Amino acid sequence: MHPTPLPPVTLDRDDRMLGSRQLAAMLPDLAGARPAYRNLARAIGALILDGRIALHVRLPAERELATALNVSRATVTAGYDLLREGGFARSRQGSGTWTELPEGRRPSGVDRLLAPEESAIDLARAAPTGLPAQLLADALAQVTPQLAEHAHTPGYHPYGLPGLRSAIAERFTRRGLATVPEQILVTSGAQHAFTLVVGVLCRPGDRVMVESPSYPNALEALRRARLRTVSVPVTDAGWDVEILESTLRQAVPRLAYLIPDFHNPTGCLMPDPERDRLLRAAARSGSWLVVDETLTDLALDVPAPPPIATRSAPGGTGQVVTIGSMSKTHWAGLRIGWLRAPAKLITELAGQRVATDMGGSVLDQLLALNLLDRAGELLPSRLARLREQRAALAAALTENLPRWSWRLPPGGLSLWVDLAEPVASTLADRALDYGVRIESGSYFTSDPGVFEQRLRIPYTLPSETLREAVRRLAAALAAGSPPSSSARRPHWIA
Ligand SMILES: Cc1ncc(COP(=O)(O)O)c(C=O)c1O
Repeated sequence: MHPTPLPPVTLDRDDRMLGSRQLAAMLPDLAGARPAYRNLARAIGALILDGRIALHVRLPAERELATALNVSRATVTAGYDLLREGGFARSRQGSGTWTELPEGRRPSGVDRLLAPEESAIDLARAAPTGLPAQLLADALAQVTPQLAEHAHTPGYHPYGLPGLRSAIAERFTRRGLATVPEQILVTSGAQHAFTLVVGVLCRPGDRVMVESPSYPNALEALRRARLRTVSVPVTDAGWDVEILESTLRQAVPRLAYLIPDFHNPTGCLMPDPERDRLLRAAARSGSWLVVDETLTDLALDVPAPPPIATRSAPGGTGQVVTIGSMSKTHWAGLRIGWLRAPAKLITELAGQRVATDMGGSVLDQLLALNLLDRAGELLPSRLARLREQRAALAAALTENLPRWSWRLPPGGLSLWVDLAEPVASTLADRALDYGVRIESGSYFTSDPGVFEQRLRIPYTLPSETLREAVRRLAAALAAGSPPSSSARRPHWIA
């Protein structure tokens, strides 16, 4: 099966304009300690840094936004002035106010991937570290002669290195999903794989079903592709399959993106009967199902599940794309991921890929192939360490923050903690002053105003560091005063 042909993209002017009601829906209550215009500018600035408001789009006309927000026009005028002063907006003669990235500031998505300042404990990234030096040295020594052979070729492999494609196909076959190399595309990580799929299957304005909460960078890819997300909840109890079915039926999304194995951030594992119903519902609505298996091998208490596509019913559409990665089992710095899809779609994706990076690095792929072959040497000890760290984090939370609650996930990398009150953003801001970098739960959704009561706390750091982080979080919570740090908010607004 292959995607139905789509018309060429035609963008109208509206793609570059933000509607007043659309913006109003993203903004919090403007009342507070500061004047409303400052709160307005601060909130819009934060949304620009966060990527929720795109760069180079036109903000609503002042009068329209004032009406939508039920504030005076002077408030919006002063707010826009402040945004211009801070470099977050620019006026174009006769054509309104346009968003910009201020000089010297980074989008939040970039900031989050960079190391935090000084001695801060980083709970914002859930990425395991610690590829053993010996394993790495052996692998490098073994691939060097192979690299020398490749150096006699041009070195472009838009589908991925043939040997790595075959190894990934065999891996799927061993897991119960018969796969040939033609069904595999090697990518620079799972995120790259997802962006390629979105680029080929979707057009601006298409609907995409996502989970709420979900993996933020995937949501960001959808925002940037100007897709409309329709979300289905994932609670501590997992997915509500009836909501999944009715959303697929009613929204008829072009694509549905799910993380059924040790879901990020909740850690939930979708039960088998729900997988069957999901597949059937996606087939009925004609939606492509994009299954993200990035965390599948981080099975701490249960066996790693087989690929969802093994359950694909005969007569189904076969419209399933499975994404995988070495980022969590090995190291994100390898930048090696893949996707499995019908061979025809793989060829279309390779075409898209040529337009972006033409192919991955041969050295990285040789290294990945070598390390994949020896995954047995690394994974058991990594899982044991994650189990120990998960227990240390849970114990530290129980001891220091007894009002907080969570469910111990059967796998994955984090606890999805309920704070018993909607203080996550304030606490995350204040935690910076206490040397902890963490994201509010609201960062994990495209729905406005939710998960202010949640924090994702990864257990990827050493146990002692996790204990210290929890002590600092408890101190930050107990301090109760407004945060003095301005690191995560636009710093030009006190
Ligand atoms: C669910 C999920 N998908 C994709 C990714 C991105 O993985 P990669 O580093 O392979 O691009 C992550 C990383 O945290 C993730 O948690």
